[in-house]
Amino acid sequence: MISERKIIKLIDLARKCNLCAMSHFKNLDRTQVDYKEDQSPLTKADIEVNNIAVEGLKKLFPDIEIVSEESKNSQNALKNNKVFWLVDPIDGTKEFINKSPNFTVNFALIKNNFPIFGLIAQPHTDIVWYNYNDKAWKLEKNYKFENAKQIECSTINYSKITTLSSLNHRTKELENWMSLVKPFKDIDVGSSIKFCYLAEGKVDIYPRTAPTMEWDIAAGHSILKAAGGNLYCDNGFEMQYGKIDFKNPNFLAFGKTDNLPSKFLIFLNDQNFESYENDMNYAVDELKKGNLIAFPTETVYGLGAIGNSEKAIKSIYTAKKRPLNNPLIAHTFSREEAEKYIEFTNIARVLTKNFWPGPLTIIGQTKKNELTKILSQGKNTLALRVPSHPVALDLIKRVNLPILAPSANLSGQVSPTSAEHVINDFGPVFYGEGWKLSKIIDYGSCSIGLESTVIDCRGEIPIILRHGFITKEMITDVLKTNVLDLENNDNELISPGQLKSHYSPKANVFINQKTSIENSGWLTFGSTPKSLQKHKNVFNLSPTKNLFQACFLLYSGLRYLDSLGVKNIQVMPIPNESIGVAINDRLKRASYKN
Ligand code: TXA
Ligand code: MG
Repeated sequence: MISERKIIKLIDLARKCNLCAMSHFKNLDRTQVDYKEDQSPLTKADIEVNNIAVEGLKKLFPDIEIVSEESKNSQNALKNNKVFWLVDPIDGTKEFINKSPNFTVNFALIKNNFPIFGLIAQPHTDIVWYNYNDKAWKLEKNYKFENAKQIECSTINYSKITTLSSLNHRTKELENWMSLVKPFKDIDVGSSIKFCYLAEGKVDIYPRTAPTMEWDIAAGHSILKAAGGNLYCDNGFEMQYGKIDFKNPNFLAFGKTDNLPSKFLIFLNDQNFESYENDMNYAVDELKKGNLIAFPTETVYGLGAIGNSEKAIKSIYTAKKRPLNNPLIAHTFSREEAEKYIEFTNIARVLTKNFWPGPLTIIGQTKKNELTKILSQGKNTLALRVPSHPVALDLIKRVNLPILAPSANLSGQVSPTSAEHVINDFGPVFYGEGWKLSKIIDYGSCSIGLESTVIDCRGEIPIILRHGFITKEMITDVLKTNVLDLENNDNELISPGQLKSHYSPKANVFINQKTSIENSGWLTFGSTPKSLQKHKNVFNLSPTKNLFQACFLLYSGLRYLDSLGVKNIQVMPIPNESIGVAINDRLKRASYKN
């Protein structure tokens, strides 16, 4: 995406920023420090470096929008752009003021909500770190581009972990996490230099439970990924950018590893070890008895049955009142496991390498053996997904068999994104003729809120059977091939679950609405129109028109308006781009016939 020539210019720009920051650093006195609304400090250096960075980037990339920590307007302008810069002119302003050398200049380029380029410069040493050509590089002071040194993460040795736990940001969750992981060594460095330590293999894991903003981490994330590590949010999926108010959830940045323990993610949030263990042990026993367990995934809550029991699988259909011709997704814990059950084509390999664990389901040709016969319910194709949610992964690993799970709602109705939604649908008794839901593992709301993308990967061209959180653009980007889109075909035979009417609340749904009809509730998007400001039954999917937020709130919104007993639900237009395509797909089905 960025040519060598432009990388060289970006390095020059970063060095200019370094010079400017150092000139202020040397002459800094405390009277030059102001405080922002959130009480974080702001110096003249922040503002001047910001001007140099923003002007420089504009000149080099005139068509790409720039969002900077220090340019408030730029933050309001962004609306799910496909490509944008995230700039933090000085990360570690506190360090800067305290005369510590660990403050940095950060640029990151975001495409389809993932970072594709990152650069961190440390003014104090004039070292620059960046990624280029799928590798991570370190360029020492006065060195030319040709002399950059490649850096790599080290492979995590779990019996001797070095962490970066950030002394300034100790929370109760982090203390809890440290007592679980018991690192061999813990180091403290300020600012985004932490990511450079990870990318150079000096440390293994950086857990973060105190608030951060996107511009604080995006450049580091990009460099770390190119060095062989990655950065996952607490839902186990890779961090994305362009979120609501540019705020990050808790996360874990880490070096090279094939088997990141699920608990390292689970205990980033407030959880009690003992009750978690008890819940999981009980859930595993019940699954093995052939009973159902509802569990969180990053998309929606699933209603799970153990994969080797026809009887357990059948009970899902009874509990949900699901048509028998609608096959289920088998959830497993790794690509190696998945390869036991289906033939992996080239596109399956590339897609899963990029989006697993995560909200992507692939359809493949079933491999023939006793287990797959049950998993695929006798069909010659099987849907598979490795969810990223650490609780889901932990559960599957403990059962050590695939778990078949549809969304944990009654067939045809609105999917559940919280344990409460599941309780509403299957309670108050949680059993019936031929089924028993033994437990709902509650781990808060599903942070994505919309089902996985389903792709038929059997041929040379991928076919999207169900739109979801992994967008067509993201798929095209990694595969560099054409992607077929069955949506416009409505071929129910190929993906039986894609019924024209689905995801339906009790009320009638009307999409792309502008004026109110009688007895209606509204799902709005963007600032609430004047005509609706006095309307009682309004649920805003995203006041700032953020599609991540609309995705997260869609099912809660539909369920909420239903709970008010309105006869009609009217939905304002939502842009049909990026994940808006999946949102509109669900709304179209919810509104079928209206
Ligand atoms: O995000 C998700 O995928 C959630 C969570 C729980 O993982 N699960 C989910 O499952 O949405 P469900 O059953 O609600 O939807 C599965 C979709 C249906 O559209 C179904 O028809 C399709 O996947 N599907 C399953 N097996 C298939 C197969 N062999 N061929 C074609 N489509 C298949
Ligand atoms: Mg800053």
